[in-house]
Amino acid sequence: MNATLTAATPSRTGESVLEQIQDTVVVTIDGPAASGKSSVSRELARRFGWVWVSTGAFYRGVAWAAHHSGVNLDDEEAVAEFARSNAWRVRLDLDQTRFELHGEDSTEEIMKEAVGLLASKISSYPKVRQALLDAQRRCALGVKGLIAEGRDCGSVVFPQAVVKIFLTARAEARAARRATEEGRDPGDVVEQQKRRDQQDASRKAAPMVQPEGSLAIDTSGLTLNEVVDQIEMLILSKISYS
Ligand code: DC
Repeated sequence: MNATLTAATPSRTGESVLEQIQDTVVVTIDGPAASGKSSVSRELARRFGWVWVSTGAFYRGVAWAAHHSGVNLDDEEAVAEFARSNAWRVRLDLDQTRFELHGEDSTEEIMKEAVGLLASKISSYPKVRQALLDAQRRCALGVKGLIAEGRDCGSVVFPQAVVKIFLTARAEARAARRATEEGRDPGDVVEQQKRRDQQDASRKAAPMVQPEGSLAIDTSGLTLNEVVDQIEMLILSKISYS
């Protein structure tokens, strides 16, 4: 799968993107920073042969690229204008949601926890969220199934999702995960993540919430396979009844 998505992609006339994707099976995995969303989503997509998107990559990418391009991140309208431009695009790969600025791959740069904080800041801007919404929904266009992870995937981006999961984990377990990935001190990471989660949960526009009708899973004491097995069973039971 190598779909490319930008906020500037033209729409087919008449139908909203939500209407165009109604035949795609969508599963959403929301939750706080480093709760295991990416590993779980990637593995689920692999098992079902579906597409996976990390919607956080849109916010991380736009925050990093706007900053890199000299846009003032305190200026909502300027960031939204950048988000609506075709300077960037997202590519869906099986192993990563990739971000390109002017055709150059910047995926590695955007994955740092420091960029997570910038992403969290601009994700509180309603105009930026609106600019990215249809591009995120287009990930489900023309595919059999999509696993979408983020903060508002079940509540706003894909309200029609057949299965909605809310992953949590103890703050220390989450910080330890990210610290290992980045070779950093867990104590520093825990503080940054707490700030980011607090910001994401308290913003007015599409805050991180446990979506209605979702299943909450605490991944702290579970292996990746235990979490994925549980969600796989749930998806299979829903698909076979629909
Ligand atoms: O999942 P992540 O850590 O890559 O997300 C980075 C930031 O992007 C997160 O702190 C808040 C924002 N985000 C969001 O507001 N809505 C989403 N659906 C996904 C991410």
